[in-house]
Amino acid sequence: MGISKPLPTISCIWLLALYMIFYTIIPTSSTSLQNGFIKCLHRSTNVHFQLDKTFFTSKRNATIFNEVLESTAQNQRYLTKSMPKPEFIFKPVHESHVQASIICSKKLGIHLRVRSGGHDYEGLSYVSQIETPFILIDLSKLRQISVDIEDNSVWVQAGATTGELYYRIAEKSKIHGFPAGYCTSLGIGGHITGGAYGALMRKFGLAADNVLDAKIVDANGELLDRTAMGEDLFWAIRGGGGASFGIILAWKIKLVPVPETVTVFTITKTLEQDAGTKILSKWQRIADNLVEELIIRVLFRVARNSGNKTVTTSYIGQFLGEKGTLMEVMKKGFPELGLTHDDCTQMSWIESIVPNGGFPTGSPIEVLLQAKSPLPKFYFKAKSDFIKEHIPTLGLKGMFKKLVEEDASVLVWTPYGGMMSKIPESEIPFPHRNGTIFKIHYFTSWLVNDKSSKKHIKWIRELYSYMMPYASSNPRQAYVNYRDLDLGKNKKNSKKNYIKAQIWGGKYFKNNFNRLVKIKTKVDPENFFRHEQSIPPLPFSTLGS
Ligand SMILES: Cc1cc2nc3c(=O)[nH]c(=O)nc-3n(C[C@H](O)[C@H](O)[C@H](O)COP(=O)(O)OP(=O)(O)OC[C@H]3O[C@@H](n4cnc5c(N)ncnc54)[C@H](O)[C@@H]3O)c2cc1C
Ligand SMILES: *[C@@H]1O[C@H](CO)[C@@H](O)[C@H](O)[C@H]1NC(C)=O
Ligand SMILES: *[C@@H]1O[C@H](CO)[C@@H](O)[C@H](O)[C@H]1NC(C)=O
Ligand SMILES: *[C@@H]1O[C@H](CO)[C@@H](O)[C@H](O)[C@H]1NC(C)=O
Repeated sequence: MGISKPLPTISCIWLLALYMIFYTIIPTSSTSLQNGFIKCLHRSTNVHFQLDKTFFTSKRNATIFNEVLESTAQNQRYLTKSMPKPEFIFKPVHESHVQASIICSKKLGIHLRVRSGGHDYEGLSYVSQIETPFILIDLSKLRQISVDIEDNSVWVQAGATTGELYYRIAEKSKIHGFPAGYCTSLGIGGHITGGAYGALMRKFGLAADNVLDAKIVDANGELLDRTAMGEDLFWAIRGGGGASFGIILAWKIKLVPVPETVTVFTITKTLEQDAGTKILSKWQRIADNLVEELIIRVLFRVARNSGNKTVTTSYIGQFLGEKGTLMEVMKKGFPELGLTHDDCTQMSWIESIVPNGGFPTGSPIEVLLQAKSPLPKFYFKAKSDFIKEHIPTLGLKGMFKKLVEEDASVLVWTPYGGMMSKIPESEIPFPHRNGTIFKIHYFTSWLVNDKSSKKHIKWIRELYSYMMPYASSNPRQAYVNYRDLDLGKNKKNSKKNYIKAQIWGGKYFKNNFNRLVKIKTKVDPENFFRHEQSIPPLPFSTLGS
């Protein structure tokens, strides 16, 4: 037990009550959800909990509760006063606690949300807007990583971040890497459930394309590995979106080879420097056809040019190889950018990760181990598009006009092609493959929650409407890891969810959505794992829930 330090009276009474639940008689009069839950957990497992380190309620200590709730939550929009808060937060320290959590929330009829890294764009891992009360199971204490270079694989627990994973791999080998997200604070648990892309995607595909095995706890509280869960469920969890099929405890991932030296560059042009959008138009024609070792993303931002607003366009490149080879590739494929030797920096793969994570260049790679993200926390709204035909200059000009209306707007274009085109659409649930030239990430953020918040959201919706003629259609595809509730959402216990979900499900998963629904119906017919955009089971099997 963790009752060692002296505590104020109120807390002492509270802890004493819990102490009694654990070690003496269980007071039957206790009606609090948490007490019922703890009682049930204790019966289901024989492991003791350090209550003050694993359970957090606002009643016991609102300061600590808020700290824990906000710790990894990325989107301030879902932390405002008016947003529903979990009844309590439980941080399991052992896999069996996760199993017991499921059994107990089922028994007690408490709705459960699960969080690994807290980066969900719509806060679904820590806020339920459709069910009260709800509790939060936070996996941040399950973050072990065991790298096996000889086997070319890693077992990584759900609560570990991408930064920690990259660091632990590099610690063992300079020529092994893993193709997951750019950002280094992502929770590996939620991240891989949606696909997960980063700088190595054109060479090796997504993180979800490189998963060998997984440990999952299903709706019955059973712990299953790949063999036990079967190939249907193993397919569904690699890209079918978070928290629809079970709680992932750990992934076994396949390592990929990286060279000892990689080269990075950033070249920034203003609108005036790329008048006529010659460079950008060329990028659209070649970015998905360049060698797979090279990825050049484009980042658009609003800037001021002696008082006038303009848009800057940054070409951010990473090449798996040395400067000299990169120069040849660029001279042949993209001379318009005018890349010079001086623009390029050579480094190791792990060093190239650091600036991607938002850390200042030159930071030691140990920053990857810090749990806290260096990125400021803000209110944000984002959307995604997949582009299959080049956007004409006229379309680009209108886009720039729209961009300068919003100060904190950021667009990122990420090229596809390479390995992304070679993997069939139905290999895993993530369907955005051959034929995609690039993906657009639309993003806006703000620091103060006031009346203007609505204006920002209105702006991004307008931009999204403006881009419609240039985006994929029937369906207009979207990336599930960039979750967007504007595309549609489930209602509480509605049997019509299945029908409505065809629309947003088609955008995220295309034809794979139907297979996801079938698997969901088989493994979780009572819809225990549910949220605003979880895969719904077929209605005839919902057993009246
Ligand atoms: C700043 C930022 C940068 C990003 N950069 C990238 C990027 O480079 N590449 C990319 O592909 N994506 C990127 N994303 C999107 C990111 O992949 C998704 O937000 C992803 O879902 C985050 O996983 P998480 O565990 O951190 O989030 P969480 O909010 O914890 O979880 C996301 C969803 O998965 C569910 N979930 C969480 N853990 C589990 C589990 N163990 N088992 C089952 N379900 C679970 C949650 O309930 C929730 O629905 C970025 C997001 C942000 C905010
Ligand atoms: C809550 O915890 C903080 C930090 O440990 C402490 O300073 C504060 O006194 C606590 N408040 C209550 C009401 O116990
Ligand atoms: C800023 O905009 C004004 C009005 O359109 C224009 O006259 C001026 O030349 C611009 N300044 C710069 C530096 O582009
Ligand atoms: C991708 O699609 C194009 C036509 O759109 C086709 O020519 C090519 O063979 C496809 N590539 C793969 C690997 O399927």
